[in-house]
Amino acid sequence: MKKWKQKAIVQKTISFLPFGNKINYLFQKYVTKGVYLNDEYFYDRLSHATSHLSAFSKYCEKAAPASSLEIGTGWYPIVPLAFFLSGTDKIYSVDISMLTNKERLKTTFDRFMDCQKAAKLKDYIKVLPDRWAIFTEIYDQYDKLNFEEILKKINLIYLIEDARKLSLPDNSVELINSNNTFEHIYPNILKPIIKDFIRVLDKENGIMSHFIDMSDHFAHFDKTINIYNFLQFSDSKWSWIDNSIQPQNRLRYQDYLNMYQELSLPVTEFSLRAGNLQELETVKLDKKYNSFKAEELAISHCHLISKF
Ligand SMILES: C[S@@+](CC[C@H](N)C(=O)[O-])C[C@H]1O[C@@H](n2cnc3c(N)ncnc32)[C@H](O)[C@@H]1O
Repeated sequence: MKKWKQKAIVQKTISFLPFGNKINYLFQKYVTKGVYLNDEYFYDRLSHATSHLSAFSKYCEKAAPASSLEIGTGWYPIVPLAFFLSGTDKIYSVDISMLTNKERLKTTFDRFMDCQKAAKLKDYIKVLPDRWAIFTEIYDQYDKLNFEEILKKINLIYLIEDARKLSLPDNSVELINSNNTFEHIYPNILKPIIKDFIRVLDKENGIMSHFIDMSDHFAHFDKTINIYNFLQFSDSKWSWIDNSIQPQNRLRYQDYLNMYQELSLPVTEFSLRAGNLQELETVKLDKKYNSFKAEELAISHCHLISKF
């Protein structure tokens, strides 16, 4: 049996168990080795932080936002820490479950320290000296501080709640962002989330900036399939394969544009990764995708920036 199918079965099984997220972390740590914070992941998310900040300064004429909100930060808060070092005072991270802890935050600190020592951090963000002083002070006494104290010092506030009903006031956040998260949320939930993002966004002084990875994530793990493999399945077949631990909504670029239009959220600027048409041609597409042009379907990643 192909590796991706084995992983799909295991994740499906775990999704039915209590504490599914914790069990998935252990499964990924010890079996698929998917939780190690490798260079590729670290620098990819750091470059997202660079892009969010450069879009922010372009449209809002300030180097860094006073406040930010990210949905689905995951195990390692790389983007929030980059925002802290750049000067953000209130950094919200919303998720229905708490995925990080003191140990994973330390791993993130370690990577920032290594990056700075290698003189690479300056290529990604402009680190404020007073923020770096706080960072190193925390780093030096990491073991003596508790998790809550560290979060407070880096201005990071976890909101463990449903992003469809955020506990934040209207027009209160200057930079709302996400990093490879939208593709994991089905449209019936994603649409009300984006609607609430519009409510809390400081529409005069702020932007939204979202990175979306539309590739089949099983292909990241099993190199015998390509990133369009999941487009062969009908919705009902996919509902058997997909799981609630790491769901994949399979939406295509045009679907996101339609959703933005329905919500009257402007796409002020975008960038795309075109994908690979030859690879797409090797997959027998489900009829659900008949109405799409091949070039549209092939788009594998996008970055959408919105300024009202
Ligand atoms: C797979 S993760 C994101 C991955 C992460 N950004 C990364 O790059 O590794 C998607 C996250 O969205 C969160 N999520 C889904 N629906 C949500 C909702 N209604 N409110 C808040 N968070 C939600 C899930 O709990 C999950 O942690």
